[in-house]
Amino acid sequence: MPAAPLEVVNLSAGYGPTRVIEGISFSVPAGARLAVLGRNGMGKTSLFATLAGQTRRFEGEIRLGGRDIAKEPSATRARAGLGYVPQTRDVFPTLTVEENLLVGLKDRPKDAIEEAYGMFPRLKERRRNLGSQLSGGEQQMLSTARSILGKPNLLLLDEPLEGLAPVICEELMAAFGALATTGDMTILLVEQRIQSALDFADSVIVLERGRIAWQGTPQALSGDQATVERLLGVGGLH
Ligand SMILES: Nc1ncnc2c1ncn2[C@@H]1O[C@H](COP(=O)(O)OP(=O)(O)OP(=O)(O)O)[C@@H](O)[C@H]1O
Ligand SMILES: [Mg+2]
Repeated sequence: MPAAPLEVVNLSAGYGPTRVIEGISFSVPAGARLAVLGRNGMGKTSLFATLAGQTRRFEGEIRLGGRDIAKEPSATRARAGLGYVPQTRDVFPTLTVEENLLVGLKDRPKDAIEEAYGMFPRLKERRRNLGSQLSGGEQQMLSTARSILGKPNLLLLDEPLEGLAPVICEELMAAFGALATTGDMTILLVEQRIQSALDFADSVIVLERGRIAWQGTPQALSGDQATVERLLGVGGLH
């Protein structure tokens, strides 16, 4: 599946009666990379969970490759090409690394698993270990690798660098960039490492209390220290 464009129109969603995503609209061209930033609790994870069909939607459209998937259950969205790597790493604890990756392959041939090992040599070393025996960083790699193996046309990455060593972060961001550049995937990234996110993305949205408080290019945000401090609460980019 080639990368799909994403168009979100007036999306509101939440948990039970509570709305935590309010009137969000944005679009991402096929193969582009969007960074979703914001302080803790501002709705980044909830936005991704809503796109993946895991919250209660109140209104709005989610057009993936032109088709509105907003009313579809999450399994249908996954079949339509939406890959979601949640912030809580979802590895199967009782399966080995290799078995976890096989689940991610879907209908692809078994040897495609080497793509994941190429990206994460550490997983190859640990391929016979159980999911429950991995370190936090290794679980993060496994969760990400499993999603990518399914060749989604839209990939949602929620803090994929959390718990990973700096050298691995750089490699991983380069690998994500390559995935987008090949035109295979449209990528949305939530990341607390703001500079890494800005280096990666070609556009940015910043959330505040479930709404889009700012949107523009990484260059425009980098050059606007007042906005960075107000919406991201940091004295400078890091
Ligand atoms: N399962 C849930 N049920 C009820 N409320 C929730 C649930 N998950 C998140 N919330 C609330 O929704 C709001 C947005 O949370 P969310 O996890 O989307 O923020 P976030 O921007 O991803 O934060 P962080 O940077 O800490 O990961 C918060 O007020 C949070 O308390
Ligand atoms: Mg979050």
